[in-house]
Amino acid sequence: MKNVNLSDKVFKIFIPSLEIKSRTGQLAKQINLDYQNKTPVFVGVLNGSFMFMAALINQITINCEVSFVKISSYKGGTKTSGIVQEILGFDINITGRDVVIVEDIVDTGKTLEFLLAKIMELKPASVCVATLLLKPDALQTQIPQITYVGFEIENHFVVGYGMDYKNLGRNLKHIYQVC
Ligand code: IMP
Ligand code: MG
Repeated sequence: MKNVNLSDKVFKIFIPSLEIKSRTGQLAKQINLDYQNKTPVFVGVLNGSFMFMAALINQITINCEVSFVKISSYKGGTKTSGIVQEILGFDINITGRDVVIVEDIVDTGKTLEFLLAKIMELKPASVCVATLLLKPDALQTQIPQITYVGFEIENHFVVGYGMDYKNLGRNLKHIYQVC
């Protein structure tokens, strides 16, 4: 499959869309089992999670709610700034609810740590995290709430399937890695 040029970098295919689809189906199946008789609130972290959220929710068969928040911390390059700012759209009522945070990728874990702290303040019944990708070697903090992981990957920058490089590449249906 062809390489993709985004701004000043070239990316090669890393995880094909069929693999993403099949793995997402497995995660959804597990969530359907784990949350049967519950009505979880899925909270997607924008922008990156929109594709994964759509694919996951498509396969969720139990009753559920879907919402999104936006956190601005990532400044468009290939390194996380580490400076987590505020949460936008955080007006959902999650007190006493079973929350499933949906992430595209957990890198340093700083974003998630910040969001989890904010969510815990609202006293949900439970919180867990579903992330399509996890970079174990980049993680700077233990996050026991990470329950559903699509793929553990090496500490390389990836794009596509919602994830961007300088705001480009979110539309790509496969996941790509920098060459
Ligand atoms: P963290 O706070 O370092 O865990 O990363 C926060 C956010 O940075 C993720 O939710 C992604 O949106 C973005 N990010 C981290 N690694 C990558 C990557 O390899 N490609 C694209 N975006 C990334
Ligand atoms: Mg994200």
